[in-house]
Amino acid sequence: MFKKIPGTKDILPEESYSWQNLENIGRKIFSCYNYQEIRLPLIEEASLFDRTLGISSEIVQKQMFLVRHGKNLFALRPEGTAPIVRAYLENNLDKTVKFIKLYYLGPMFRLERPQKGRLRQFHHLGCEVIGSTDPYVDVEIISLADNLLKNFSINGYEIKINSLGCKQDKERWAEILRRQLTPHANRLCADCKVRIKKNVLRILDCKKPGCREMVRGLDLKKESYLCPDCLMHFGKVKEGLDLLKINYKVTPHLVRGLDYYTRTVFEITHTDLGSQDALGAGGRYDNLAQELGGPQIGAMGFAFGMERLLLVSRCKDINASSKNLVYVIPLEEEAKKQALRLLDNLRKQEITADMDYENKSLKGAMRKANDLGAKFVVIIGEDELKKDVVTLKDMVLGQQRQVKRQDLILNIKKQISNRLI
Ligand code: HAM
Repeated sequence: MFKKIPGTKDILPEESYSWQNLENIGRKIFSCYNYQEIRLPLIEEASLFDRTLGISSEIVQKQMFLVRHGKNLFALRPEGTAPIVRAYLENNLDKTVKFIKLYYLGPMFRLERPQKGRLRQFHHLGCEVIGSTDPYVDVEIISLADNLLKNFSINGYEIKINSLGCKQDKERWAEILRRQLTPHANRLCADCKVRIKKNVLRILDCKKPGCREMVRGLDLKKESYLCPDCLMHFGKVKEGLDLLKINYKVTPHLVRGLDYYTRTVFEITHTDLGSQDALGAGGRYDNLAQELGGPQIGAMGFAFGMERLLLVSRCKDINASSKNLVYVIPLEEEAKKQALRLLDNLRKQEITADMDYENKSLKGAMRKANDLGAKFVVIIGEDELKKDVVTLKDMVLGQQRQVKRQDLILNIKKQISNRLI
C-alpha cells in the first residue's frame, strides 16, 4: 500500500471544515483592510529564490524541492513573497497601479526534517503591500496580523519586532557583530563558524545553547548601527503600534532567515507550539524589486503557517454540525424516488440535504443522522407514502410530527428561521 511522503498531510473532511473556517475568516479580515487576493503558480524558476532569499539561506542551501527539466531548473515555491514581486514586475504593476495590497493562501514546500509544526508541504496565509515605504504600512500589517489572530480565537501569542535597518545599516551591523564574535569563534557551533564569514546576522537566530548564550552577552544597541532615517522609521512604527494599543516586544536579537529583509521585521510566537514556536513572521523588503531588475520600491508583508494556526486555534472546535443539515431516510424503494425529488427541491432552496444511500435500518440511519449532526430528519416509509405525508423530526428539540409532503420545505424553513431569532 502506498503511503504519503513524510512531512505531508492528508486533510480529511473532519479537519477540512476547520481549514475552511480559517480561510473564510482570513478572507473576510483581509477584505476589511482592502487587500485583494493573488493566486500564483506553485512552481517557479529556482534562481528566483537563490537571488532573493539568499544563496547562503537555509532554504536555498538545504530545503528546495527542485525539478530539473532539460536545461531548466524549477523549484516548488518555498514561500510567496519573491513570486509575488516577480509577478508584480512581470505584469508591469510597477508602471500601472504602483501601490497594491495583496493577500494569498496556498501550499509552500520546504525539504525539512519533519516534526511537530514543521512540514515539507505546509500552507501560508499571508499578505504583501508593495509600493510604499510609509511606516504606517508596517503598523497596518502588524495590526492586521494581530487582528487575524484575535479573529481566529488565538491568544497567548507574543509579537516581537526589530529593525534591521537599510542595506548599509545591515552591513554596519554585520561588521559590529563580526568584531564582537570573532575572538570567541571557537565557542560557536559548526554552522555559526561558517556564518561568521558568510551571514553573521543569522548567528543571532541560532538555537544552539552555546551560541544563544554568547549572543545574549552581545552589546546590540540600535543606535550603534541604525542610520537616522531608519531610526526615525522604527520610531514611527512603534508610535503607531502604541496608538493602536498593540502589545509588542522590541527584540534586538530578532533577525530573519531570509536575506531580503530590511528595516522592520517581526515574528509572532506561541508557547504551545514547542520548539517550532513561530505562528507567523514578516517584514519590510525595500530592495527586493530592485534585486529582480525592477525599480527601488518599498514593500512589506507577512505569512502565517496555517497548520500552526490550527494547532493553537479554538476555531477548530467549530464543526460542520453548525449547518442546518436535513437528513432524509427512505424506508423502501418507492420512498427513495420521493426522497430523490425532495433532496433536489431542498438543495434548490439552498438547504443542505442528504439521504441514506447505505440502505440502513431506521435505527442505523438515525444513528448516522446523529453522527452527521443533522438538525432535521425526514422519514418516508410505507405509512407516510399511503397518507401522502412525511415524518419530520426536529433533532434539536427532539420532537417529531407528520407533515403534508407539499408543506415540508415551508415547515423546515419556518423552524430554521425561528431558531435564528
Ligand atoms: P517564514 O518565516 O519562512 O517567512 O514563514 C512564515 C511562517 O510559515 C512561519 O512563521 C511558520 O509559521 C510557517 N512555516 C515555515 N516553514 C514551515 C514548515 N516547514 N512547516 C510548517 N510551517 C512552516 C516567509 O516565508 C516570508 N515569505 C514571510 C513574509 C511575507 N515576509 C514578508 N512577506
